[in-house]
Amino acid sequence: MATKKVCRPFLLLFFASYAAGGVLFSTLKPTLVVQASPRAGSVLNVGEDRITVTWSLNQSFPKGMDQQYKKIKVKLCYAPISQKDRAWRKTVDDIKKDKTCQFKIAAQPYNSTATVAWLIERDTPTATYFIRTYALDSQDNEVTYGQTTNKNKTTNLFVIQGISGRQASLDVAAAVFSVFSVFSLFAFFIREKWAAKRVQRK
Ligand SMILES: *[C@@H]1O[C@H](CO)[C@@H](O)[C@H](O)[C@H]1NC(C)=O
Repeated sequence: MATKKVCRPFLLLFFASYAAGGVLFSTLKPTLVVQASPRAGSVLNVGEDRITVTWSLNQSFPKGMDQQYKKIKVKLCYAPISQKDRAWRKTVDDIKKDKTCQFKIAAQPYNSTATVAWLIERDTPTATYFIRTYALDSQDNEVTYGQTTNKNKTTNLFVIQGISGRQASLDVAAAVFSVFSVFSLFAFFIREKWAAKRVQRK
């Protein structure tokens, strides 16, 4: 009985904090204008290609509204086409639980405009992506965003070709070559034998 009484407040606190979650994406008003180097539909390679991202403040909002912006986070995000049937990439309105933007491109103190460059990390999976930038307040809560695609995430998307796809085709090529080399070694021996036989006959 006593333990129950002691535990209850902690349990309540635990559930309250869990229920509180993070900021809801749907409550944010986009005030950042984000541009990135990949052209719509282009295919980039991990470990080789770079993405540059530039953000600025949308000038149609009143000046000084960015005073609470303290930090900028630039993220690489899955387009809906690459989220289909993949619960681990699901979009959740609660940003803390959202799985849309799993890759960090940059995180730095807020500047009303800046450009960052990112060499696409080798463990980035093959998928269709866009880029989103969040501004955070002093409590590390998201207060606004901007993205390179439209609201429905259908325009201006690009593809990243991961290592696995290319690795697979390299493996196939290697297998083909090793079969070929065994075969040519075999052919070489047969030809040598024939040549030897011909010499013997003479
Ligand atoms: C700036 O914000 C206004 C109002 O939300 C919007 O209509 C406009 O498209 C935005 N401009 C850019 C460049 O995103």
